Amino acid sequence: MRKKVTIVGSGNVGATAAHWIAAKELADVVLLDVVEGVPQGKALDLLQAMPIEKRDCNILGTNDYADTANSDIVVITAGIARKPGMSRDDLLNTNSGIMASVVKQVVAASPDTIIIVVSNPLDAMAQAAFKHSGFPRERVIGMAGVLDSARFRTFIAAELNVSVENVTAFVLGGHGDTMVPLSRYSTVAGIPITELIEPLRLKELESRTANGGAEIVKHLKTGSAYYAPSAAAVEMVEAILKDKKKILPCAAYLQGEYGISGLYVGVPCKLGAKGLEQIIEIKLTAEEQAALQKSADSVKELCAVIGVA
Ligand code: NAI
Ligand code: 2OP
Repeated sequence: MRKKVTIVGSGNVGATAAHWIAAKELADVVLLDVVEGVPQGKALDLLQAMPIEKRDCNILGTNDYADTANSDIVVITAGIARKPGMSRDDLLNTNSGIMASVVKQVVAASPDTIIIVVSNPLDAMAQAAFKHSGFPRERVIGMAGVLDSARFRTFIAAELNVSVENVTAFVLGGHGDTMVPLSRYSTVAGIPITELIEPLRLKELESRTANGGAEIVKHLKTGSAYYAPSAAAVEMVEAILKDKKKILPCAAYLQGEYGISGLYVGVPCKLGAKGLEQIIEIKLTAEEQAALQKSADSVKELCAVIGVA
């Protein structure tokens, strides 16, 4: 039997995630939204691409959580997105209300599922999903680090004129202005980028990474990025469905790791069939640890505002 992935929110990120999943033939997809007709129309359209793409995936659009029953994974993209001048944190109150209602219905339909949260502000929304679901931390994971690291990898590859495949990079911390691109752990074909790019230029690339979301919002004007965010969420879906034991930067509920407790923050995680299978602790310099703590503090402030600290 094929795996089943539900995507809640059939907007830009949700629908494009469905596209990536179907293109990779990873699972059957249920696309859900509160707006009537939109998930149905997008799902039918995508389904009709399957004979052309030679992929056997069923894709169903719905407004009814009964159709999502027993999903292996639920990706939550429901909520409002940024417009120019808005920060991710401006989305807090609206999206936390949406998250509470979505998670309740997801859990009722799929009590054993693994939830991947995408809605912003990401770390606070992951924390809200964790608290509202009552799931263990292994089954509620936030997507941000894969996207932020992909942006960093893109900029490094362009800077050095090398294949993106040669570049690995890590971005830790919350998905916000305080995120922590870790140049020391970023490499090109195994060579630390600190040996290939001079410090001042590296700082510029780190800063462009931290502002990567805003750069795209400024271009689009009516919404935020969705191709790379959805691809990032689907990389996590694939790692779980295929039990790949893949190490990816994800938002995870820390219980003492990195000296942080009771909070979702982006750290290196091993993803496999059980969801979050391990948090990898890497050695940080005092400066990196301080930056991670500062980022965690800003996540905590948001969590406090919506009562999930
Ligand atoms: P969008 O506006 O295109 O789509 C959001 C969809 O959610 C809409 O179709 C809307 O009808 C639906 N929705 C609203 N309330 C709902 C509910 N209660 N139940 C089901 N569906 C509901 O927005 P987009 O671009 O797809 O972004 C979605 C979210 O993902 C935003 O919060 C955005 O900030 C966030 N995001 C997070 C990223 C990350 O790195 N974690 C990256 C990109 C976006
Ligand atoms: C991004 O980083 C808006 O969080 C979204 O593109």
